[in-house]
Amino acid sequence: MVFYKNKKFLIPLVSILFILLVCGAIYFSPIKQLLIFLPQVTKERVGTFTNLQPEAQKGAHYVGSANCAECHQDIYDKQSASMHTKMIQDVKKDPSVIVGDFTTLPVDADFELKNVVYTIGGKFKQRYMLRKDRDGKEDYIIGNYQWNTENSNWQSYKVFNDWYHDAWPEDNKQIPTSHTCDGCHFTGYMSTQKRVEPAIHCENCHGPGSNHLEDPVKENIYMATRQDPIRSMEVCLQCHMRNVDKRLDSTTMADLYGIIKDYAEGFEPGMSLVKYKKAMPYQPGINDAKFYGNGIGYKNRMQGNEYVQSAMYKHGITCMNCHDPHTVDNTAQTPRGDKFCMSCHKMGSPIGPHQSTLTAHTKHEPESTGSSCIECHMPKTGKHTGKSPTTVRTHVFRFIYPKESLEYGVANACNNCHTDKTLEWSDKKLIEWGMTTWERH
Ligand code: HEC
Ligand code: HEC
Ligand code: HEC
Ligand code: HEC
Ligand code: HEC
Ligand code: HEC
Ligand code: HEC
Ligand code: HEC
Repeated sequence: MVFYKNKKFLIPLVSILFILLVCGAIYFSPIKQLLIFLPQVTKERVGTFTNLQPEAQKGAHYVGSANCAECHQDIYDKQSASMHTKMIQDVKKDPSVIVGDFTTLPVDADFELKNVVYTIGGKFKQRYMLRKDRDGKEDYIIGNYQWNTENSNWQSYKVFNDWYHDAWPEDNKQIPTSHTCDGCHFTGYMSTQKRVEPAIHCENCHGPGSNHLEDPVKENIYMATRQDPIRSMEVCLQCHMRNVDKRLDSTTMADLYGIIKDYAEGFEPGMSLVKYKKAMPYQPGINDAKFYGNGIGYKNRMQGNEYVQSAMYKHGITCMNCHDPHTVDNTAQTPRGDKFCMSCHKMGSPIGPHQSTLTAHTKHEPESTGSSCIECHMPKTGKHTGKSPTTVRTHVFRFIYPKESLEYGVANACNNCHTDKTLEWSDKKLIEWGMTTWERH
């Protein structure tokens, strides 16, 4: 019992026991799995105005992704297979990119297959770019019909019906894509007003690469995840967030007639996005052209507008935690499913769900689709066109209550599955289950 006699040993012994105890507690506790994200979420928050573009990248110009392949072949291959590179496709290079059935194109269409230069998209809908120069510069317009892939039919498409009613004439032929589309669909256009290459490639997220080609080091190329996690999302939000022309801060639609723009002109990755982009405002309590009154978007590409409302955004969990930026697959889709959400969450975890078993949280059997995280926390609430089915999953993550559906007409998880039940039925069940913590009145 030498330890009793010699107190010198007591301090290190107690300290070691204490450390072991803490390690043990962490090992067995639900926060263990959060520790790997600690370096990410505790990075210094630099605020929204700091310019994070590397000093050695400033003044560089855009070079195109073919130049990056030589040294980053694996990333180039992954990225080339992603939907990002399918956004704008050249019909002459590959006629099979057309998904619309041109044999049924309505007679009052203002274009024919032979006039189409580029296709836009195709997964949910496809629109068609036709050449029409403006002020002597290469420019395009959009055909007055779009192919709805989800419904397999042609639908009328009027660009004017986006938010710029008072800034453009009604006729698509008068609305250039240079002002309304190209900043988000071509590489380099947002910053330079030049179509460096069609669709989304390396430099849309890493910034201009000429300096890096001359001297391939880390110091002259932007990589979003190096710094502040909140700011890292700006590379995605430059496109995946609906906005209005930033100049409307200090001027009116009427002043911008015929020159208004729908993208963050001048922005390059790393720069302060808020200086270039004005997020489309949502008006609490009011259903308007883009949002339900509870902040849920009812169109596609509103992931950013929605995600900024989430507790996960505020804690520095980013788009990249859930989507590989090079493959842009949806990592929570099957086969990974709930396991993916549960890589951070755990039953009984301090970040939730707070209940100790899955069924206690979801009130459905574990194998039931009614226990799937994304079915309840990312229900399908948005549409790709007014006539499309509701297929766009919300990115607010909080729970949308049946009461909100009663008030705003927005979809909710319970009634998306229980289509034979009323909103009042689901509302009553939630009250019975005591699951009304986040309900807004
Ligand atoms: C001649 C070869 C070469 C070419 C071409 C090249 N890179 Fe690099 N790249 C490198 C090297 C080497 C590094 C530094 C790797 C390191 O230090 O770990 C690097 C680093 C990077 C990084 C930072 C990675 C990190 O871990 O911080 C990014 C992003 C990047 N390159 C993107 C690009 C893009 C975009 C292009 C095309 C415009 C490109 N590279 C072209 C060789 C090249
Ligand atoms: C949609 C945005 C986006 C596009 C497009 C993109 N990247 Fe990245 N890239 C990122 C982000 C974000 C990271 C940081 C990922 C992380 O830290 O997990 C990254 C990481 C990297 C890295 C370093 C880490 C690694 O995975 O090795 C390199 C090198 C790189 N990108 C090169 C490229 C090249 C080359 C291209 C084009 C072929 C490209 N990227 C296209 C967003 C993008
Ligand atoms: C320059 C604009 C732009 C940037 C930057 C951008 N995206 Fe995209 N993204 C698009 C467009 C346009 C599409 C639609 C592509 C299509 O349907 O062909 C898309 C599609 C996607 C998809 C769906 C892919 C699929 O298979 O359906 C995901 C996921 C995605 N982006 C995530 C991201 C993330 C994460 C970032 C940031 C790291 C990012 N995007 C940056 C424009 C952009
Ligand atoms: C602020 C950036 C931005 C602007 C401006 C923009 N888009 Fe997009 N667009 C996106 C993003 C991001 C996506 C993919 C994400 C989604 O659909 O949720 C997308 C998706 C699409 C799709 C669906 C793609 C598919 O595979 O189904 C079409 C078609 C499309 N845009 C056409 C247009 C047209 C036409 C214009 C101009 C009148 C335009 N967009 C302006 C960012 C933009
Ligand atoms: C916590 C995880 C998570 C985060 C964070 C997240 N997403 Fe998603 N995202 C998903 C899941 C899950 C899906 C849809 C899976 C499905 O439909 O099966 C999805 C779908 C998408 C789609 C496809 C939309 C469509 O209509 O097909 C886009 C684009 C997208 N996310 C962009 C983003 C962007 C941009 C951010 C950051 C602002 C982001 N996501 C943040 C999990 C996440
Ligand atoms: C990289 C870690 C991580 C992943 C992956 C993740 N979460 Fe989270 N989640 C968090 C953190 C951190 C919080 C904040 C907890 C808090 O505020 O106490 C959170 C909060 C939430 C909340 C609370 C409400 C809100 O506004 O966000 C919900 C719901 C949620 N997550 C659902 C999901 C779902 C569904 C998935 C899978 C698609 C997922 N999470 C994946 C880390 C993660
Ligand atoms: C049947 C619908 C449903 C399913 C499935 C579901 N949740 Fe929830 N979740 C809710 C509701 C409702 C709330 C609101 C809290 C309340 O009122 O109890 C919530 C709250 C949360 C919270 C906030 C903390 C808390 O416990 O209140 C987190 C985190 C969360 N859920 C994560 C998840 C994850 C991860 C999954 C997948 C394993 C999941 N949820 C599956 C309905 C569901
Ligand atoms: C993804 C689909 C899905 C979602 C979302 C969902 N459920 Fe269910 N629900 C089911 C299925 C399937 C069953 C059948 C039994 C089972 O598998 O657990 C069920 C069973 C039930 C039952 C018991 C049987 C009955 O009809 O009386 C109730 C009550 C219920 N759900 C209420 C809700 C409520 C309230 C919500 C919203 C919080 C909800 N469900 C969300 C799919 C879903």
